[in-house]
Amino acid sequence: MNLTGKKILLGVTGSIAAYKAAHLTRLLIKSGAEVQIIMSASAFDFITPLTLATLSKRPVLSQFKKDETGEWNNHVELGLWADLFLVAPLSANTLAKFAMGSCDNLLSAVYLSARCPVMVAPAMDLDMYQHPAVQSNLNRLEGFGHEVLHAESGELASGLSGQGRMMEPEHILGHVQSFFKGNDDFKGKKVLITMGPTLEALDPVRFISNHSSGKMGMAIAEEFSKRGAEVFVVSGPIALKVSKEKFHWYSVTSADEMYEVAAVLHPKVDICVFAAAVADYAPAQIAPEKIKKDSELISISLRKNVDIAFELGKMKRGNQIHVGFALETENEAANAKAKLKKKNFDLIVLNSTKVEGAGFKVDTNQVELFGADGRSVHSELASKTTIASLILDQIKTIPVWV
Ligand code: PMT
Repeated sequence: MNLTGKKILLGVTGSIAAYKAAHLTRLLIKSGAEVQIIMSASAFDFITPLTLATLSKRPVLSQFKKDETGEWNNHVELGLWADLFLVAPLSANTLAKFAMGSCDNLLSAVYLSARCPVMVAPAMDLDMYQHPAVQSNLNRLEGFGHEVLHAESGELASGLSGQGRMMEPEHILGHVQSFFKGNDDFKGKKVLITMGPTLEALDPVRFISNHSSGKMGMAIAEEFSKRGAEVFVVSGPIALKVSKEKFHWYSVTSADEMYEVAAVLHPKVDICVFAAAVADYAPAQIAPEKIKKDSELISISLRKNVDIAFELGKMKRGNQIHVGFALETENEAANAKAKLKKKNFDLIVLNSTKVEGAGFKVDTNQVELFGADGRSVHSELASKTTIASLILDQIKTIPVWV
């Protein structure tokens, strides 16, 4: 998608990933965007303003005052000029300033004045990224309605390996393009998404469940909403902060409850995405009182739960699209393709517990997509936001019969 005419403020802060801002700037300029760069003081330790000024074809700003003339760099005008404020990389320090509204440099002043949407790509070392303060600041930014392009996993400057690398410039460009393009390519579509775990009660205190956090389903719901769809979410219990006003949100607990709600919504929607980790079994009886810890061994008989995707797959109309997931631990592709067929999916998203950084709870995933039309698409390890964007791009090319 061409970015001609789009005005992008690019904030660059003090992270080793700042060197990637040069490549990102080139990609944005090549796509036709106008790019105005604002650097934090510590960014100068990682990349020179001359490099960024040359690539963006504009002077790089950093101070409130213009060095040569002493004139004021008007942070309000900059905020009004931009169609998008992108900060890549976003350091932990600048993240904290944004989250708390502190303002001690031109970059944070422009952030507080900006009326345009904000997109950030955090980058820092593994343990910093996982620190509760950083995670809570990222949640705060998402709560402000900003798009967080979560860090990707891989080799870090410290020699550690894990989540903390800034999203690759090509992926960031993809998000910027879908931000500008994507506001309407699912306009008029109604989408049902099941997500999160289900909890199957054992007694009034205990339950059987799984590790699903809802992040994958949430990323898909956000992407559909951003691209104009009307989104109906049926979610098991999750701890994610959710801006529910964007969605028709239904919170459920058990597989039976999830099925009950999904079955009522199904006839109304065009697309279903079954991202939920639904418990396949539930205790055959729910004990009325807390089970006493008398004997060493307790055996529990389990009954099969309703298979939501399978049941709704039997009701799928020709003009509906069903997308399923497969979470596998072995024979991944074969198992996924079998589910694709058995559950009458048009597309299945395979993720394996054996891939580091994929599956439950993490902000990243690595998937293989298999279509009923024979397509097969591989993704590298990327943020669940990027994976969601890939899934929607694949959904768009599935032919539906009127
Ligand atoms: O939530 P996160 O922490 O981000 O983790 C994401 C995820 C790993 C949960 C997600 O990416 C994922 O793989 N979800 C599907 C998990 C699952 O139940 O896979 P499955 O292979 O057991 O089920 C196959 C398909 O049938 C899935 O679309 C599932 O939603 C559906 N199903 C399964 C059982 C059941 N009783 N009803 C169903 O609808």
